[in-house]
Amino acid sequence: MKMYLRKIPALAGVGIAALLVGCEMPPPETIQNGYRGLQMQTNYNPRLLQASLDANVPPEPIPPAQPGGPLAKDMYKNVQVLGELTVTEFNRLMVAMTTWVSPEQGCYYCHVNEGFEYDGIYTKVVSRRMIQMTQDTNANWKDHVAQTGVTCYTCHRGNPVPQYVWTSDPGPGQPSGMAPTGQNSGVASKTVAYASLPYDPFTPFLLQANDIRIIGDTVLPQGNRRSIKQAEWTYGLMMSMSDSLGVNCTYCHNSRSFYSWDQSTPARTTAWYAIRHVREINNDYVVPLGEVLPASRKGPLGDPYKVYCQTCHQGAYKPLYGAQMLKDYPALAQPLPEGGLAAVKAAEEAPPAEAAPADAAAPAEEAAPAEEAAPAEEAAPAEEAAPAEEAAPAEEAAPAEEAAPAEEAAPAEEAAPAADEPAPEGVRSVPPTMMQYPPAPAPR
Ligand code: HEC
Ligand code: HEC
Ligand code: HEC
Ligand code: HEC
Repeated sequence: MKMYLRKIPALAGVGIAALLVGCEMPPPETIQNGYRGLQMQTNYNPRLLQASLDANVPPEPIPPAQPGGPLAKDMYKNVQVLGELTVTEFNRLMVAMTTWVSPEQGCYYCHVNEGFEYDGIYTKVVSRRMIQMTQDTNANWKDHVAQTGVTCYTCHRGNPVPQYVWTSDPGPGQPSGMAPTGQNSGVASKTVAYASLPYDPFTPFLLQANDIRIIGDTVLPQGNRRSIKQAEWTYGLMMSMSDSLGVNCTYCHNSRSFYSWDQSTPARTTAWYAIRHVREINNDYVVPLGEVLPASRKGPLGDPYKVYCQTCHQGAYKPLYGAQMLKDYPALAQPLPEGGLAAVKAAEEAPPAEAAPADAAAPAEEAAPAEEAAPAEEAAPAEEAAPAEEAAPAEEAAPAEEAAPAEEAAPAEEAAPAADEPAPEGVRSVPPTMMQYPPAPAPR
């Protein structure tokens, strides 16, 4: 007994030491995201930051292709996407793709003895679609990926299947046999940074297009019928986004009003586009690939491994800390027009008066939220500068049309996307049991 008592303080000491080991050594490095005094800042632990920087170094670019020579479509038998490249550009890209996706397996991860033109291996069919997905991202989602863009490496990092993917989660088994609701299940899930929040915040928001916004815009709760239960799903997504980008909430929000767009940082606008972008990647590209992917590449409910913020960002506020990989692989920057890269280059060098309308049209149409003006400051190349001017009117027009409260400037947001929100067909691969996200009750 006496022995026992004497041991207690010693054990407590061990316990406290163990607890402290969990704490990080001060001082953290702090980066301010908002106005002075608002405490809108991101804290970094220098040691962990260094580890993350080391883990996010892109590979050296391979030397550029020799110009000229025959086109791939004239030399090869079955090129459906890259035909407008010259043979040397084409082979350079094949080599790059191999180092990014299957460095250990080599060319034969996507090709078989029947010949390079043979399509009977699913990895080749998947890759062709992945090439299109990458080109689409880089050409049409500049509001998110800017000129930095993505390559296969952004997601794959030398792995045939990217390290960070998700599938719809059936949840832990319940002794009662009742289907879990995905709610506060007592499970501290990794997907939501170990919070006890719904463990699958992806299906409702990054596949389906359920409304993320839950805060009312009136003093009294009239009209807003969103529940705390729904708020938990939103918070689950927000935890996952913060974790993926290695930031905290104030990287995007001023926490005095999570709702208000004009008190949020420009990064929140980027994130708004990012959510739509990821939804499109999942619905238009990954889900349809479920038809060719083998069962070993699918989750317990039979849906393919899908993309979320972590797939690209991997803990960095910009994937690979903003390394400019795409510029060395122009074939992935856009769907290839007739005439290939030479035609792309010629269009870029054309006098701005002619080049501008084509480029500017898209951003202007999208009725960008108010903050969109800001990214132009971010040293965006000339091409982007023009749309900024055009975006300004759009930005003012939107709230007027909507007759929404000034704050809701972002409704431009709710309105514009309506057109490009993924059609409900995206839901098709999700079994009905997964549609657990509680829809807003009908107004009484
Ligand atoms: C990650 C998958 C992948 C890897 C690895 C890969 N390829 Fe390919 N390859 C493709 C795809 C997809 C196409 C079809 C492109 C298209 O339709 O435009 C293709 C087409 C080809 C063709 C054209 C064949 C024809 O006649 O239609 C050749 C040649 C080729 N690849 C060579 C290579 C070589 C050499 C390597 C290794 C250095 C390699 N590939 C590695 C995906 C891959
Ligand atoms: C936005 C992230 C992203 C980018 C960019 C991307 N991929 Fe993928 N890729 C995925 C995901 C997610 C899967 C997993 C789908 C599955 O297996 O269910 C995948 C699967 C694949 C597979 C199947 C591997 C296997 O073993 O099943 C191949 C091959 C592939 N990608 C090639 C490419 C190539 C080539 C590129 C560049 C042209 C590329 N990917 C760009 C996300 C990406
Ligand atoms: C990378 C940027 C980013 C980070 C980090 C972030 N958010 Fe958000 N948040 C958004 C965006 C974008 C929306 C609006 C989404 C939409 O409408 O599609 C949003 C919406 C919200 C809403 C709903 C607001 C409304 O009008 O109803 C709440 C609440 C919220 N976030 C809380 C948080 C919390 C708490 C954190 C930290 C755990 C966080 N957010 C981190 C970007 C971010
Ligand atoms: C296909 C890869 C990819 C995915 C998936 C992805 N991002 Fe990004 N994101 C990028 C790239 C590339 C950039 C860098 C753009 C630049 O240089 O300004 C970026 C930049 C951002 C930024 C701007 C950061 C800053 O400080 O300017 C935010 C915010 C962001 N992403 C949020 C998200 C969120 C939220 C998600 C998930 C809903 C997401 N991203 C998913 C590729 C991706």
